[in-house]
Amino acid sequence: MTRSYYLVPFFLLLAFYSEAASSPIPANIGFIKSSCNATAYPDLCISSLSLYATTIQNSPHQMAVMALEVSLNRTKLAQTFMHLLTKFKGLTAKQQEAIADCKDEVEDSLDRVNRSSIEMKSLGQAGGQEFIWHMSNVETWISAALTDDTTCMDGFSDLATEGKIKESVRAQITSVAHYTSNALALINSFAAMQKH
Ligand SMILES: *[C@@H]1O[C@H](CO)[C@@H](O)[C@H](O)[C@H]1NC(C)=O
Ligand SMILES: *[C@@H]1O[C@H](CO)[C@@H](O)[C@H](O)[C@H]1NC(C)=O
Ligand SMILES: *[C@@H]1O[C@H](CO)[C@@H](O)[C@H](O)[C@H]1NC(C)=O
Repeated sequence: MTRSYYLVPFFLLLAFYSEAASSPIPANIGFIKSSCNATAYPDLCISSLSLYATTIQNSPHQMAVMALEVSLNRTKLAQTFMHLLTKFKGLTAKQQEAIADCKDEVEDSLDRVNRSSIEMKSLGQAGGQEFIWHMSNVETWISAALTDDTTCMDGFSDLATEGKIKESVRAQITSVAHYTSNALALINSFAAMQKH
């Protein structure tokens, strides 16, 4: 019995592993490529956003909006993953504790990315002080979402949590953090352009 409990979730873990859909890249993505240059993970940025080239066109605002949506969707997957892990049998008390804490962090992060996504979408027409206010909200929330990811992994610093579970959480959280870091870079680029 115990064995099948372990096997089924691990198939699910594997299903979530892949970073981004490797779809064919449309020809005209020059704007996306040059914008992604400002991010820490440009390949991930290009592969995840070139799917939305027709929406993005040459708009730094749409670029940031879509990057946040991609980050939101990826964070939702991580939330599902953490939820599944809490159902796992045969975990030590330390592992259970680290998983429960990390699930809370991922949920906080999801909430912050969601709020940022909504705020960013409504930002199109705002100007002056109002724009700066909304932008600083988004920048604060996304930075906090990245901190949540780090805090999640801190919970696994105890030696007693070493193993496959920790590695699978790390893979999830690292992937989420890469998408979110890219979104933050694109938000910052957009904000910097608007201030001129
Ligand atoms: C990316 O930046 C590097 C140096 O900062 C530059 O040489 C390269 O041409 C840029 N690539 C694109 C696609 O803008
Ligand atoms: C995010 O997920 C929603 C719902 O599954 C989907 O409709 C949307 O296309 C996704 N957006 C991106 C940018 O991946
Ligand atoms: C995002 O926020 C909206 C408005 O508060 C809410 O309706 C929606 O369920 C939230 N989505 C997620 C993924 O948390």
